[in-house]
Formats: sequence, structure tokens, C-alpha cells
Amino acid sequence: MRTWLASLLGRSTHNPANLSVDRGLKFRKAEGALIWVMLLAATSPALPSNRCGACHPKEAAAYAGTQMGRSLGPPVPEPAGSFLDAPSHSQFTIESSDSRMLQRVERDGLRGEHEPVYRIGSGAHAIGYLIEADGHLFQSPLGYYSGRGWGLAPGYENSAAPDFYRPIAPNCLFCHAGRAQPIAGTLNTYQTPPFEEEAITCERCHGSPEAHLRSPLPGSIINPAKLAARARDSICEQCHLLGEARIPNPGKEIEDFRPGLELEDVFSVYVSEKSLDPSSPDSLQVISQSQQLALSRCARRSGGKLWCGTCHDPHLQPSEPKGYFSARCLSCHGTALLKTHPKPSDDCVGCHMPRRPVTDGAHTVFTDHRITRRPTASAALALPAAPSALVVWHDPPSEYVQRNLGLAEMEVGERLKAAGLVTQGVRLLMACWPNYPNDPPVLNNIAQALFNIGEDETAASVYEHVIEIEPGAASNFLHAGVAWRAAHNDKKAITYFERALEIDPLLEEAYQELIRTYLAAPNSEMLRQTCQRYLKAFPQSLEAQAEVRNLSHH
Ligand code: HEC
Ligand code: HEC
Ligand code: HEC
Ligand code: HEC
Ligand code: HEC
Ligand code: HEC
Ligand code: HEC
Repeated sequence: MRTWLASLLGRSTHNPANLSVDRGLKFRKAEGALIWVMLLAATSPALPSNRCGACHPKEAAAYAGTQMGRSLGPPVPEPAGSFLDAPSHSQFTIESSDSRMLQRVERDGLRGEHEPVYRIGSGAHAIGYLIEADGHLFQSPLGYYSGRGWGLAPGYENSAAPDFYRPIAPNCLFCHAGRAQPIAGTLNTYQTPPFEEEAITCERCHGSPEAHLRSPLPGSIINPAKLAARARDSICEQCHLLGEARIPNPGKEIEDFRPGLELEDVFSVYVSEKSLDPSSPDSLQVISQSQQLALSRCARRSGGKLWCGTCHDPHLQPSEPKGYFSARCLSCHGTALLKTHPKPSDDCVGCHMPRRPVTDGAHTVFTDHRITRRPTASAALALPAAPSALVVWHDPPSEYVQRNLGLAEMEVGERLKAAGLVTQGVRLLMACWPNYPNDPPVLNNIAQALFNIGEDETAASVYEHVIEIEPGAASNFLHAGVAWRAAHNDKKAITYFERALEIDPLLEEAYQELIRTYLAAPNSEMLRQTCQRYLKAFPQSLEAQAEVRNLSHH
């Protein structure tokens, strides 16, 4: 196996260009502490449920009214509705009353319904819904869009058979919830309740409050504006820079990020090379405000001074955006501008940061953060083309540069079926593999590459190695099973699928793989039993119902 793999070892790839940043420190002079507040803290028997609001009533009250302060919570009653999704022949119905909402899908005479338990999104543009089953969170196929009502949720638009069971992984909630409580080893199992905090909390930008609560002084809690530029920007980038791929360093999860760190201490973000060209339409994508802003001349020429916080007070939804933002522009451009400027200029943003519609589901309208001199002509934005090359937003520690880029190229290449990226990624991973003999993401991707070229048995053995390292993760068993089945070893495949289901009885793919195996074998008795188990686990699944209905045809 080693010799065979060695032949895959490619040329070494050059280091990607990375954006340089101003790492200059900028500290504001801390203001004096208020002694009476300390006394208050020392004498008050217990803090009220909102631990910050007692002393910072202004920030707490205003923040509760922002979109981030309402980013996730129980569903709010939206109007009832129904629509037909023609491509998938699915009829959707939403029943809604003050106390309860029921979402239903019907197709081919089958029907499934769920009562969503959470909404994702304040509703500014769109709302997504989460459903819960046995401690698992899934994304409903339905979304509610301000202005146009009910529709398919993002990502479900092109689905041939939309269902309720797209697993909600922790990285989705990382950007939308205060703190989710995932259970290791599964894709989408959470503790009860699944959220320690539902909407995005103060802590997500200010870090752990413990020291501050013990001694409420300036400097005892993180103030983003006082951090060095890279750490400061990282706080917003954790959620406002999606990129093409976000790759955690070895042994880390995205969720390990804490304010005060630089993003690359935990994970690195990869963007399309073309998106770094300000004149390219690809430089405008959803959830890329950080990337766009960095392209602006304002940011590039202000030596790290311009950041999100220059224009946005995260605790405040400005009631008069025009005047509010213009004042921010003028804080740098001053009144000198007004003398030379071509037109009377009260609404700076209206001309220099126009709003644009996007075609990407929930992330529907956004503001051009590139702050261009002359607004570009393009009105609506199409989705960007598959990237030909990826570059890192900021370098991770040098020892991870190749590994992380390789993983990013594999991930994006697989997702977009871009063979060139996959090949580049495999080369990098093969080259750094000796340094990461026990690193599950590296091994999984090498196994995937082997699987892609039909080296199924070798792929299966690499997956088995991952199982030794992470024996508690259901998906590892699923992968090994798929590879063994491709290698025509059904017995091993079935053992692995069953093991995956022992760990996670709601790993839907494992039922589907078992069914596929018994259909091909064929083994009608095991097929029948498996379809029944699938339906028992997912009684509302149209797919499971269809499998049971199809049994009579076999
Ligand atoms: C017992 C009162 C008290 C509580 C509770 C409290 N603070 Fe403070 N906080 C203060 C005082 C006093 C200061 C310093 C004076 C000021 O900036 O208002 C301060 C300052 C701050 C600062 C500015 C720090 C700096 O160095 O610039 C932030 C940010 C902050 N608090 C956030 C929070 C958050 C978030 C919570 C809840 C987890 C919280 N505070 C809870 C009293 C409190
Ligand atoms: C934990 C993730 C997270 C962090 C950290 C975060 N944001 Fe957000 N932000 C969001 C999400 C999600 C939304 C959309 C909320 C919704 O409408 O449901 C949002 C919305 C916004 C909006 C839209 C308008 C509004 O008032 O809410 C602004 C502006 C914004 N964020 C600025 C910032 C800035 C500036 C920072 C850094 C200081 C930051 N965000 C940090 C996740 C985050
Ligand atoms: C990298 C962080 C990130 C990830 C991951 C992410 N989102 Fe978002 N999402 C945002 C931000 C930021 C916004 C605010 C609007 C914007 O910037 O486009 C948003 C907006 C939304 C909205 C519209 C909110 C509103 O009030 O208009 C919905 C719904 C949504 N996301 C659902 C999801 C779901 C479901 C997932 C996971 C399957 C997901 N998002 C993954 C950051 C993220
Ligand atoms: C999305 C990020 C974000 C969230 C969430 C957030 N803050 Fe802040 N907070 C900031 C930033 C950025 C600053 C620095 C503002 C500045 O000085 O430019 C700040 C500053 C502060 C200050 C110091 C204000 C001053 O005048 O110096 C306090 C107090 C504070 N926040 C309290 C809170 C409390 C309480 C919450 C939760 C209810 C909260 N923040 C939630 C980003 C956030
Ligand atoms: C932190 C300071 C700062 C803020 C805030 C700021 N800018 Fe700038 N801006 C600059 C600097 C510096 C330049 C570069 C000037 C130069 O090249 O001489 C610039 C350049 C520009 C340009 C010329 C762009 C080009 O490509 O030629 C425009 C237009 C502009 N700013 C508009 C705005 C608007 C509108 C706002 C508010 C939404 C704003 N700026 C906020 C610092 C800032
Ligand atoms: C030069 C000023 C300026 C800076 C700097 C800036 N923004 Fe904005 N941002 C705006 C304006 C103006 C809007 C539109 C607000 C409105 O329409 O009410 C906006 C809107 C947003 C929204 C709402 C969704 C959208 O795209 O319309 C988000 C989220 C956001 N900004 C995040 C950020 C983040 C994150 C940063 C830092 C990377 C940032 N902004 C830096 C001016 C700025
Ligand atoms: C009606 C549309 C419009 C409005 C409103 C507007 N601008 Fe401009 N601005 C322009 C155009 C067009 C140019 C380019 C002029 C050129 O290239 O000769 C420009 C150029 C600029 C420049 C570059 C000037 C230079 O000399 O390099 C800055 C900076 C700028 N605007 C800032 C602002 C600010 C700040 C505001 C709000 C106070 C504002 N603009 C309002 C249309 C507008």
C-alpha cells in the first residue's frame, strides 16, 4: 500500500499568496473604574438572570433589539400557507396558529409532517426551521422569506426529493446560536436542551465574563475595539467570513474559537483567488463582509484603522441608517471632501455601498462592502463560478499551511466536482501525510481520494485506521462500510453499517446504504427488516415510507 501511495506523491505546491495585514497594536486608554459599581457587585447577593444587563442596561436593552440578539429562538407564528414545488412534485403545507406550527410535505401519495422546535434567523431576510427527533436536530425543507413568504429552505432548492432530515451540524449553529451543546461522535446529536444560549450572546464577542464578574473593571473583559487588529477582526470573521472552506487546525474544532484569539489559532479560511480581485464579480458573495471590506481602498489605505466596528455598533440597530453611516464616513473623509465631491452627498452609502440582491437562498440581499468609487453596473449577482484556485485568508501556523490548504482544496473540489482542485489537494495531503499519520481529516481525505480512483480496499483500510483513532464517531464506520461494499466485501460493509447505527440510530445514510447492499445482494428478508427499521427510526420520512412500499415489488 505504501509503495502504491508513494507513487501518488506529487510535486510540491508553492505557497499560496496570502493577504498581508496590519498587525499594529492599538490600545485605547482604559477608563477609570467606578468604585461604587464594585461595591454594588460585592454586596449584591445574586446577579439577575441577565448577568450583564444589571450594570450595562443600555447595551443589553439595545442588543436585544438587533438581529444578532434575535438570531435563534422558538418559532414565531408565521401565516399558514401552501405551495407546490414543481421540480420535485412535492406539495408543502404549513398550518399555523398562535400556539403551534405544523409543516407537511406530500409526494406520490406519501406524507410526512413535523412541528419545528426552533427558528434560525431573526427574519430580517429569511427564517429557517429546525426539527428535533431523539435529541437530533435536522433542517426543515421550508423557509419563510420576508417579502415573498414560504419557499424551500436554502440548499433544498435543487433537491429531487426534499425531506425533513438534513442534519444540522454544529458549524451551522456556531454562526447562528449563542452556544450549542453538541454530543461528540455524531453529526447532529445535542444535549437537552440543545442550546445553553439560543441567540448570539455577549460572550461571543466579549469572551468569558468570569474575571469581569468577579472584578468589574475595564480590562477584565475583552473589548474587541482594544484588541490588536488581527484578533479584533477575527471576532466578526468567525461568523461573517464563510469562505469556500473553513479548516480547523489538527485537534481543533471551529467551535473552539474564543474572542481574543486570532482565527488561525483555531482554523483557517480559504477563499477563491478570483474573489480577491476587487473588479471581479466573484468578490461579492454571501457572508463575505470581511473579505469585501478588506478589498476597499478605505481599509487598504487606513493602516488597519477601519474595521467593522468603525461603522457598526453591534449593540445597536440604527434608527436612521443614512445619517448614521454618513457620519461614519465623514469621520475619516472629513468635510474637505464635500467641497470637491461631484454631487451633494448626504447618503454616502446609497452611492458607494449599494444593496444588491443575491440568488443564494437565505442570504438574499446584502450591502456591497467593497466601498467602490463608482458603483459597478451589475444589479443582481449570480452565484460565483467554481474557483480555479484557493488562497488562504490569513496563514495558519507555518506547520499547518500545506495540510490546511490540501484539506480545503479537497473539500471544495469534492463539493464542486472540480477535478483540478481535488488533484492539487491530494498532492498536498500525500506530501504532508508522514507528519500527520494519525490525523483523521487528512486520513479521511486520502481515503476519499483512493476511493475516487477505485482503490476501494486500500481506502477501506485507511478508513479503518481512522476508526482506531476515533472509535466513537459513527460516520467513520459509515465510510468504511461504503468502501468495503465497493470492494465487494458485503459482510464487512454490513458490520460497519450496523456499528454506525449502534452509535447513532438516526444516521439516515446508514439505513440507505444497508438497503442498497441488501438490494444488490439480494437478500429479501434482510431487506424487509432493514426497511422496517428505517421506517421505525424515521416514521415521517417519505423516503423510508417509499422503501417499505417498494418491498411488495421485490
Ligand atoms: C457588577 C457590574 C457589572 C457587571 C455584572 C458587568 N459589568 Fe461590564 N463593566 C462594569 C464596569 C464598572 C466597567 C468599567 C466602566 C465602564 O466601562 O462602564 C465595565 C466595563 C465593561 C466593558 C468594557 C471593558 C473595557 O476594557 O473597555 C465591557 C466590554 C463589559 N463591561 C462587558 C460586560 C459583559 C459582557 C458583562 C456580562 C457578562 C458585564 N460587562 C457585566 C461593570 C459590570
Ligand atoms: C456568533 C456569530 C456572529 C458574530 C461573532 C458576529 N456576528 Fe454579526 N451576525 C451574525 C448573524 C447570524 C447575523 C444575522 C442574524 C439574523 O438576522 O438572524 C448577523 C447580523 C449582523 C448585522 C446585521 C444587522 C444587525 O443589526 O444585526 C451586522 C451589522 C453585524 N452582524 C455585524 C457584526 C459585527 C460588527 C461583528 C463583530 C464585532 C459581528 N457581527 C459578529 C453572526 C455573528
Ligand atoms: C460562517 C457563518 C455562517 C454559517 C456557517 C451559516 N450562516 Fe446563515 N447567516 C450567517 C450570517 C452572517 C447571516 C446574516 C446575513 C448575511 O450576512 O448574509 C446569515 C443569515 C442566515 C439566515 C437569514 C437570517 C435573517 O434573519 O435574514 C438564515 C435563515 C440562515 N443564515 C440559515 C443558516 C443555516 C440553516 C445554516 C447551516 C445549515 C447557516 N445559515 C450557516 C452566517 C452563517
Ligand atoms: C457582535 C459582537 C458583540 C456582541 C454580541 C456584544 N458586544 Fe459589546 N462590544 C462589541 C464591540 C465591538 C465593542 C467596542 C465598541 C467600540 O468601542 O467601538 C463593545 C463594547 C462594549 C462595552 C463597552 C462600551 C463602551 O462604551 O466602551 C460594553 C459595556 C459592552 N460592549 C457590553 C455588551 C453586552 C452587555 C452585551 C450583551 C448584551 C454585548 N456587549 C454584546 C461587540 C459586541
Ligand atoms: C477609517 C477611515 C475611513 C472610513 C471610516 C471611510 N473611509 Fe473611505 N477611504 C479611506 C482612505 C484612507 C481612503 C484612500 C484615500 C486615498 O487613496 O488617498 C478611502 C477611499 C475612499 C474612496 C475612494 C475609493 C477608490 O477606489 O478610489 C471612496 C469612494 C470612499 N473612501 C468612500 C467612503 C465611504 C462612502 C465611507 C463610509 C461608508 C468611507 N469611505 C469610510 C478611509 C476611510
Ligand atoms: C464603512 C462602513 C462599514 C464598515 C466598515 C462595515 N460595514 Fe457592514 N454595513 C454598512 C452599511 C452602510 C450597511 C447597510 C445597512 C443598512 O442598510 O441599514 C451594512 C450592512 C451590514 C450587514 C447586514 C447585511 C448586509 O450585507 O446588508 C452585515 C451583516 C454587516 N454590514 C457586517 C459587517 C461586517 C462583519 C463588517 C466588518 C468586516 C462590516 N459590516 C463593516 C457599513 C459598513
Ligand atoms: C450621488 C452619488 C454619491 C453620493 C451620495 C456620494 N458620492 Fe462619493 N462619489 C461619487 C462618485 C460618482 C465619485 C467618483 C468621482 C470621480 O471619480 O471623479 C465619488 C467619489 C468619492 C470619493 C473619492 C474622492 C476622491 O477625491 O478621490 C470619496 C472619498 C467619496 N466619494 C466619499 C463620499 C462620502 C463620504 C459621501 C457621503 C458624505 C459620498 N461620497 C456621497 C458619488 C457619490
